[in-house]
Amino acid sequence: MRVLVTGGAGYIGSHTVRHLLEYGHEVTVFDNLSKGHAASVPADILVEGSLSDSARLDHILVTLRIQAVIHFAAFAQVGESVQQPDLYYRNNVLGTFNLLDAMEKAGVRRMVFFQHLRDVWHSRIDANCRGHTSKPYQPIWPNQAHGGMDA
Ligand SMILES: NC(=O)c1ccc[n+]([C@@H]2O[C@H](COP(=O)([O-])OP(=O)(O)OC[C@H]3O[C@@H](n4cnc5c(N)ncnc54)[C@H](O)[C@@H]3O)[C@@H](O)[C@H]2O)c1
Repeated sequence: MRVLVTGGAGYIGSHTVRHLLEYGHEVTVFDNLSKGHAASVPADILVEGSLSDSARLDHILVTLRIQAVIHFAAFAQVGESVQQPDLYYRNNVLGTFNLLDAMEKAGVRRMVFFQHLRDVWHSRIDANCRGHTSKPYQPIWPNQAHGGMDA
């Protein structure tokens, strides 16, 4: 299968890429190298680009005839996400919307999405301790947009 791995030059992504290649998939890594390392993946499958660049995403999905996307591209530092929520929201949430739009346009219907579920499930901010929540599973207040899987 022709698979696009966003964030594929990062920690989890690069291991996933190695396994996908071992299993014979045609892999393209899409990563802006803001946190990842080019040396983590074979140079000939790396496309340097950002999720904020919708036109680039559209182009890649269509021209490479991508059949599935595994989405790891995100900022993933919990502390930083609390200090700079706008940066995280923009990169992780809006970036994911751009990717989903591009997939819809290109007719790509298969996706593995590996990000922090608090992006959508976090509900209420405790005034004294930002990040705690009294109703953790109500999807009404996406206040933390870092990576992880604790929801
Ligand atoms: N590492 C963990 O233990 C862990 C656990 C659970 C969930 N996760 C989630 O898995 C995902 C990947 O985590 P990781 O530890 O591999 O992080 P990582 O920082 O090593 O990898 C993320 C990659 O995404 C790239 N990236 C970031 N923003 C981008 C953008 N706008 N456009 C293109 N590329 C972009 C970075 O350059 C980096 O290579 C994150 O969503 C993280 O929250 C990680």
